[in-house]
Amino acid sequence: MNILILGSGGREHAFAWKLKKSSQCDNLFVAPGNAGTSAIATNVAIGVNDFSKIKDFVLAENIEMLVVGPEDPLVNGIHDYFLAEESLKHITVIGPEKLGATLEGSKEFSKEFMQRHNIPTAAYQSFTAETVEEGCAFLQTLQAPYVLKADGLAAGKGVLIINDLEEAKVALREMLVDAKFGNASAKVVIEEFLDGIELSCFVLTDGKNYKILPTAKDYKRIGEGDTGLNTGGMGAISPVPFLDDELMQKIEERIVKPTVSGLQKDNIPYKGFIFIGLIRVNNEPYVIEYNVRMGDPETEVVLPRIQSDLVELFKAVGTQTLNEVAIEIDHRAATTVMTVSGGYPEAYEKGKEITGLETITDAIVFHAGTTTNEGKIVTNGGRVLAVTSYGDTFKEALVQSYKNVEKFSFDKMYYRTDLGFDL
Ligand code: AMP
Ligand code: GLY
Repeated sequence: MNILILGSGGREHAFAWKLKKSSQCDNLFVAPGNAGTSAIATNVAIGVNDFSKIKDFVLAENIEMLVVGPEDPLVNGIHDYFLAEESLKHITVIGPEKLGATLEGSKEFSKEFMQRHNIPTAAYQSFTAETVEEGCAFLQTLQAPYVLKADGLAAGKGVLIINDLEEAKVALREMLVDAKFGNASAKVVIEEFLDGIELSCFVLTDGKNYKILPTAKDYKRIGEGDTGLNTGGMGAISPVPFLDDELMQKIEERIVKPTVSGLQKDNIPYKGFIFIGLIRVNNEPYVIEYNVRMGDPETEVVLPRIQSDLVELFKAVGTQTLNEVAIEIDHRAATTVMTVSGGYPEAYEKGKEITGLETITDAIVFHAGTTTNEGKIVTNGGRVLAVTSYGDTFKEALVQSYKNVEKFSFDKMYYRTDLGFDL
């Protein structure tokens, strides 16, 4: 079948790499893609939110499966758009409809969902500009640090963790009254701070059945030792080494099952990935957030560990027969190290030539922010290349990833050298 992937990051290159391995994949397209996807698939210069152009392309190329990488088009309703068009509704779309995507698009919606279905999460209340004084009073009843979350999508910047009560009150006013994150902070969720170690669980569901995919842990801060600004993610490890059978069972029973059955009870159709951000407190799992897509760079370690045919799994999502297919997981660990442009996550330069990539033979390089210019591969974003390796342990895999990171370079390239330091 012909498949179109939407997105342009390392996640989408990893999807392309994995889908391409399937004998069921004929023509593979990525919109808009990057230099890495162009080497194994056909890039199409269409933006992920340009639904009418996507429709024209899908019809012209006889696309039968649409795999949506980022959350934006999902929250904007691309799946609903396909269902509403007579000529598109037979196409399998991987990614939930708008209602399901609200699990990521609104923190309040997701907290209410968790509360309704008894899914463990931090205690919370939400506030608007009209109730800002009540919000300040609520803060006074909590212990520091204070967790303030913009309700809507804020490009990963909408969560503030503040130690001082007075500063937290000021920040709450800025979010609600001064629209610090625009419309995304018209509502703010204030929640109890949970102190523990984070991990992520990935689920593929057809709305009735589910498969638990390999778990992963990512490293979000720019600096060594988890310091400095938040990024999209500087690397990831799979599986999560401290996740034992007991904790995994708690995650499945208390979180995964009630999430999938909760979607059904609430009549929320859902065909796609659920990325559950978790925190472990005293060996008990709590949900920090839901995302309605795969993580980046988590995908770059999760997909390499899935041995099953991904087209087969996606087809089963489309026909709601995920219970009829098995999922095989590679027992080895996988790690990915993200190399980024100097200055990221603040201002950085683009267009730097990347050299040495051809010398890499024993690692997988997933392109994130790259493009081609006069036959050369050049940087085109903050996160540039993710280097994934396997190993019997995550430590062995990391050695291999780091060895390969040293084989290529571009001006002002930066990466963290301490992944796994906390494990
Ligand atoms: P979110 O966008 O909801 O994933 O939040 C971003 C980050 O803030 C998370 O990855 C956590 O590191 C942190 N965080 C969010 N909520 C809490 C909480 N209730 N307690 C502690 N840390 C939190
Ligand atoms: N790496 C975190 C995310 O994709 O949201």
